[in-house]
Amino acid sequence: MTRRRIRIAVIDDERITGMRLQEHLAAKGYPVDLFFDGESFLERYRCAPHNLVITDMKLPGIDGLEILNQVKARQIETEVVVITGYATVDSAIDAIKAGAFHYLTKPIRLDAFDNLISQVIQKILLRIETLDLKALIIRKAGRDGMIGTSPEMIRVFDLIEKVAPLDCPVIIQGQSGTGKELVARAIHRLSNRHDQPIVSLNCGGFSQELIANELFGHEKAAFTGAFSAKTGLLESADHGTVLLDEIAEMPMDMQVKLLRVIQEGQIYRLGATRPIHLDIRILAASNRDLEEEVKKGRFREDLYFRLNVMTLSLPRLKEREGDLWLLADHFLHKFNQAYKKDIKGFSPKAREALANYSYPGNVRELENIMARTIALAEGGRIQVEDLPPHLKPPAGSDDSSFRSLEDLEKDHIRKVLQGVNGQREKAAEILGITRSTLWRKLKKFNLPL
Ligand SMILES: Nc1ncnc2c1ncn2[C@@H]1O[C@H](COP(=O)(O)OP(=O)(O)OP(=O)(O)O)[C@@H](O)[C@H]1O
Ligand SMILES: [Mg+2]
Repeated sequence: MTRRRIRIAVIDDERITGMRLQEHLAAKGYPVDLFFDGESFLERYRCAPHNLVITDMKLPGIDGLEILNQVKARQIETEVVVITGYATVDSAIDAIKAGAFHYLTKPIRLDAFDNLISQVIQKILLRIETLDLKALIIRKAGRDGMIGTSPEMIRVFDLIEKVAPLDCPVIIQGQSGTGKELVARAIHRLSNRHDQPIVSLNCGGFSQELIANELFGHEKAAFTGAFSAKTGLLESADHGTVLLDEIAEMPMDMQVKLLRVIQEGQIYRLGATRPIHLDIRILAASNRDLEEEVKKGRFREDLYFRLNVMTLSLPRLKEREGDLWLLADHFLHKFNQAYKKDIKGFSPKAREALANYSYPGNVRELENIMARTIALAEGGRIQVEDLPPHLKPPAGSDDSSFRSLEDLEKDHIRKVLQGVNGQREKAAEILGITRSTLWRKLKKFNLPL
């Protein structure tokens, strides 16, 4: 565990004391941000929270206790050590009640300081280690980049491993967002073709001519405008894997041609007279039940039989017992990193809303919800208010939805501020109050100043 991972802030208006502590900690290998007042510290802390904050109690403007309160409101996991004069030890006791790790009295004795700092750093390191371990467990809770420990997904993982080396076509079926593409890539990676390309074509929404051109390519002058020859997708996947996505959407005529490719192992570029021999493995994905499509006459039976050596069905997210929280934690970790945030988890109400939702868009929808929520969330834990509106229980559905006026006011102020990108003046104008009233309300409600 490296000391460099611990971010420390020292806040003291006595510049000499602050610089002495900074130097002392730097000599021990801890990088330290030094501030001479609370305002500039909070500004930095909001974008990049520190693990340890060492602050003087008496400061001009925002004092040590206020810093402590704001830090704990945002990030309960930041440790705070306060420094105080002998005459004001009472205020240090208040600080401990408000969640400070401990206090030091001035003048600071370096041996006492070292002792305390090593205790608090032990605590922080232990927490970081636990979080790392959790991330590791999540990464291991699945296979080949796919998360899941539910019996339904274990069955899928087992099938992928069995079918991957067999070199036969596979139909991957599942509702939108269930991970069909991920499965196709896993099959390719675990197959003997893994060092060859995997290419994919979405068969939906294109005309028969366009698909033919994409799949087979063409010779020079095959049609007006074909100024040069073009390699088709199938050819470029020679010795590799082709994923035909949304295969149920493939036009009927094209289905005939594809069947021929599979049967004969060769293709003709458009306008070509000689065939090209190919060695490709075909994987086909669909969010419709292909057997049903065959019954309804929308998909060719002979092609279906050719492809259906093996069908792998992906369960809906709702059917994967226990996987929701593994996936939610996985995406929390992913988007915390992507957006440089440090959101710790979910409030009980947010958990309830996430658990009750139906996820018609399956894992992709959960991923999108988490991306959006983490981008907008402000710190600490995700609250039910941070979730997209359609996840929140309808108003009036339980007693707790009769909220106090103060609660509503706090919420409304936060929303308006978000809507105007934090511009205080504009927000005050919309709310019909003066800037100083707005400031007082922000302070009262513990909202970021
Ligand atoms: N088991 C899983 N573990 C982690 N991430 C997953 C899992 N399943 C799906 N995802 C993620 O969800 C998103 C959707 O997955 P994918 O594109 O494979 O789904 P799909 O079934 O092909 O969707 P569509 O039908 O819309 O094409 C991707 O970002 C993917 O990384
Ligand atoms: Mg897909």
